[in-house]
Amino acid sequence: MDGKHSWTYLYFLLFLIVQERCDACDWMISQFRMKNSFCISELEGMSGEITSMHVPFPHQEYYDIEMAKVEDQVRFLTYATDHIIKLLNAVSLKDDIDWDSKKLDNLLNVLDYRQLKELTKCTATYARRAGHSSSEKKLRRHFRKLKKMLNDSNYSANSLAQIRNVMLQHLRRMDIIAANVSQELTKKTN
Ligand SMILES: *[C@@H]1O[C@H](CO)[C@@H](O)[C@H](O)[C@H]1NC(C)=O
Ligand SMILES: *[C@@H]1O[C@H](CO)[C@@H](O)[C@H](O)[C@H]1NC(C)=O
Ligand SMILES: *[C@@H]1O[C@H](CO)[C@@H](O)[C@H](O)[C@H]1NC(C)=O
Repeated sequence: MDGKHSWTYLYFLLFLIVQERCDACDWMISQFRMKNSFCISELEGMSGEITSMHVPFPHQEYYDIEMAKVEDQVRFLTYATDHIIKLLNAVSLKDDIDWDSKKLDNLLNVLDYRQLKELTKCTATYARRAGHSSSEKKLRRHFRKLKKMLNDSNYSANSLAQIRNVMLQHLRRMDIIAANVSQELTKKTN
């Protein structure tokens, strides 16, 4: 292969990589926030009260991630979505709770089969990284505490109301991160 051809080949490869990310992350630009706002309205619309929170919310982790690189933001969203799904799944397995089960199902379907799936696809276009960032570790600890609170109270109405409130806060903060991601990815495609 002469020099000129190998450059052409290299550009072509680069084009493919960029193109691949566009396709894999397209959901983050075109759909994620819309689906997220659907999730928020399903969560808001479930019956049962929303009380004030006694559980600390990981505000600092969200501030940090708002300033992070887009690839870390995508990873963080993936991680947070996964935790939310696991927690809500545990709730959905209980039968005597006062949440609207249809809305909970809708919510879990969108989170699991759309948001998480698309986030994972997008994350896969970035280089693999061993271990978890400190924001991710703190997030994991936060969710572990929530799980323990639910369990220790036997999924009491009060703890469920708090969980719903915390999940709403997550989804609202995730929307800001998703807006960052969408903006950055749009810049790169143009
Ligand atoms: C993400 O959005 C927030 C709120 O609009 C903004 O303050 C922050 O600078 C953005 N982060 C990046 C990396 O663009
Ligand atoms: C769940 O809660 C029960 C009491 O309600 C407790 O005995 C048990 O150890 C808890 N399990 C975990 C994993 O925290
Ligand atoms: C939760 O349920 C367990 C077993 O039924 C019971 O021993 C425990 O006291 C309950 N805890 C609360 C906080 O109601």
